[in-house]
Amino acid sequence: MRKEDQKPPRCAVTRREFLLSSAGALAASTVTIGGLWPDAAEAVPAQVVTYPRKFIARLSALRDNQPVDFDYPDELANSASMLVKLGGVRGGGGIGPQGDVVAFSYLCTHQGGPLQGTYLAEGPHRILGQCPLHLTTYDLTRHGIVVAGQAVESLPQVLLELDGDEIFAVGLMGLLFGRHHNLLAGEGA
Ligand code: FES
Repeated sequence: MRKEDQKPPRCAVTRREFLLSSAGALAASTVTIGGLWPDAAEAVPAQVVTYPRKFIARLSALRDNQPVDFDYPDELANSASMLVKLGGVRGGGGIGPQGDVVAFSYLCTHQGGPLQGTYLAEGPHRILGQCPLHLTTYDLTRHGIVVAGQAVESLPQVLLELDGDEIFAVGLMGLLFGRHHNLLAGEGA
């Protein structure tokens, strides 16, 4: 036989056969993988962590521009917070008839400087600061944004709920200084 009359050898597996066998192998491997952890769904139960609902003060007992100190969300370090009635000046997230009751962390977001005793009410301005370490000030009427200073992150705001005359803390907006998670007890404390 001449060389040019020779046909190339037929492939032992057609394209259709290859695809069918591949699908079969994939199905088989899926079954095998599933078989390794038959109870996987039960082995990893869902975990939901929520903020505590904590009574802070009575609305009727608040005095304009006189902060009330409390701890939130726990009693550990880095939980020092303040509640204040902004004297009729509405604040972002504020509660009460005038929307002027707000609450914030007392820890500067730059390096954790203590902000106790720095509340300032002047004209329409309601400020926490200057921080004693590097002079940052925060605007309490606008969710604690930085007005001036070294910090770049807003002051964590404590979310409030009014139930009749009672004020409750129910959550946090922002991360407390020194913690990787607001609700991980003991972390960074
Ligand atoms: S710790 Fe407050 S400005 Fe640096």
